[in-house]
Amino acid sequence: MSIGIIGSGALGASVARVLAKNGISATIANSRGPASLAGLVEELGSSIKAGTVAEAASADIVLAAIRWTDAEAVLSALPAWNGRIVIDGTNPVAFLDPNSDDANDPSNPLAAYGIKAIDLAGKDSSAVLSSYVAGARVVKAFNHLDVNVLAEPQVAGGKRVLFYSGDDLAAKADVRALIEAMGFYPVDLGSLAVGGPLASLPFGALAAQNFIKV
Ligand SMILES: NC(=O)c1ccc[n+]([C@@H]2O[C@H](COP(=O)([O-])OP(=O)(O)OC[C@H]3O[C@@H](n4cnc5c(N)ncnc54)[C@H](OP(=O)(O)O)[C@@H]3O)[C@@H](O)[C@H]2O)c1
Repeated sequence: MSIGIIGSGALGASVARVLAKNGISATIANSRGPASLAGLVEELGSSIKAGTVAEAASADIVLAAIRWTDAEAVLSALPAWNGRIVIDGTNPVAFLDPNSDDANDPSNPLAAYGIKAIDLAGKDSSAVLSSYVAGARVVKAFNHLDVNVLAEPQVAGGKRVLFYSGDDLAAKADVRALIEAMGFYPVDLGSLAVGGPLASLPFGALAAQNFIKV
């Protein structure tokens, strides 16, 4: 199965790095075009190619590794998904300018982390993201761990647990196989409506929980 990554920042580059370590091919894209990714692809080796957003988005499995605030504009502009898989790696948070009022707002419990929660009026973020990729089969994964730990699937004699959730069993099986091939220990949290909020930052009970299967 072909893999595309939209976003080459902290999450996209980190996932690409783990794919490369395991010899798994992928195409990665960002807002600035393939030339801007020359250094990254040179570092990662021949399994990771730089592409346009359209090229990355045409893969069988496409990881959305973009900020929540960019998700609607980026994903809604893409061609029909026709049942291909979108992995929702996003969390509904806004990244704050350290000099902004929000970053110093004492009522923001996340200010110390440089983020603030985005109010989705009670909706689950994966349901909202699914509406941007109509016709895709959405699986939520790769969103609940900081990239610094995500970079090491195998640690302390065990495998790092990666949660995933989704409504399409076949899509989940494909994503599970990918997670396993990358060296993580996949744990199915059920449907998007149940598992999504559980593992989603900032307030999910399993968000940022770093378990190791020994
Ligand atoms: N950072 C973490 O530890 C972490 C962990 C798990 C999940 N997440 C989630 O992952 C998502 C990305 O976070 P991040 O920390 O990786 O953010 P980031 O470092 O800011 O990277 C965002 C990426 O999105 C790309 N992008 C923005 N607009 C685009 C467009 N129009 N077309 C194509 N690409 C576009 C940017 O392209 P340019 O490089 O060209 O600017 C950049 O590569 C967020 O939803 C975040 O909540 C983050």
